[in-house]
Amino acid sequence: MRHENPTITRAQQPSSSSVSSSRPGPSAPSPALVVGGTGMLAGVVRGLVADGRRTAVVARSEEALNAPADGAGPAGEVLPLSADYSDAGRFRAALRRARREAGLFRLAALWVHTPGRETALPVVAEVLAEDAVVVDVRGSAAADPTRERVPPPSVLDRAPRDYRPVVLGFTDGPAGPRRLTHQEISDGVLAVARAGTRPAREDFRHWTIGRVRPWHDRP
Ligand SMILES: NC(=O)c1ccc[n+]([C@@H]2O[C@H](COP(=O)([O-])OP(=O)(O)OC[C@H]3O[C@@H](n4cnc5c(N)ncnc54)[C@H](OP(=O)(O)O)[C@@H]3O)[C@@H](O)[C@H]2O)c1
Repeated sequence: MRHENPTITRAQQPSSSSVSSSRPGPSAPSPALVVGGTGMLAGVVRGLVADGRRTAVVARSEEALNAPADGAGPAGEVLPLSADYSDAGRFRAALRRARREAGLFRLAALWVHTPGRETALPVVAEVLAEDAVVVDVRGSAAADPTRERVPPPSVLDRAPRDYRPVVLGFTDGPAGPRRLTHQEISDGVLAVARAGTRPAREDFRHWTIGRVRPWHDRP
């Protein structure tokens, strides 16, 4: 039984060859936005701050918002944004305040529950730079192998924006398949956010942290 760190894989369309984009990576420490950043993505916030980015973090709980940068070091800075992403008006007001303070976001990591996506994603799109890298985290139900493709939200997946969907899978422990830990999820999301290029649109589907096949193995 394997029980090493989960792998991060790129799912591609089965019939096409792999062509890399020549877009420069998100290496400059431009401002970042993490929506849903106090739970399993808290490590993403720490990583982006350690990269020297001013990082706006959205969650409802102000108490939790004060915690995620602990141990991140002085490189960047956290802008805590207490807002409910399913309340478009307040969410927009909070993001606009952050944009005024930090500038347009050139990198975003999103963990938005399915019922909130329709309201939240268009509001997020308003504060992103035209060529922003957007890492969109999806639960593994979105990657049910019986489905052909994770449907991308058109409001975010619009060139020159660099839309990077990431599916949370599961991994293997000593006792068999298990769920990913928060650290494993954050490490995987950071790796995708820091990647210099994304595969070309025509042959790219999504990244997977861990595995989703065979689907009946899921814990
Ligand atoms: N393998 C898989 O496919 C998969 C899929 C889903 C979840 N999981 C696991 O399930 C666990 C629980 O998931 P979870 O969703 O509770 O994740 P979580 O990352 O622990 O918490 C959700 C994050 O989103 C914020 N949030 C939630 N609703 C919000 C709203 N309406 N407006 C603004 N921010 C909001 C939360 O802060 P506030 O509550 O303060 O707003 C928090 O920062 C995770 O730890 C993960 O390991 C696994």
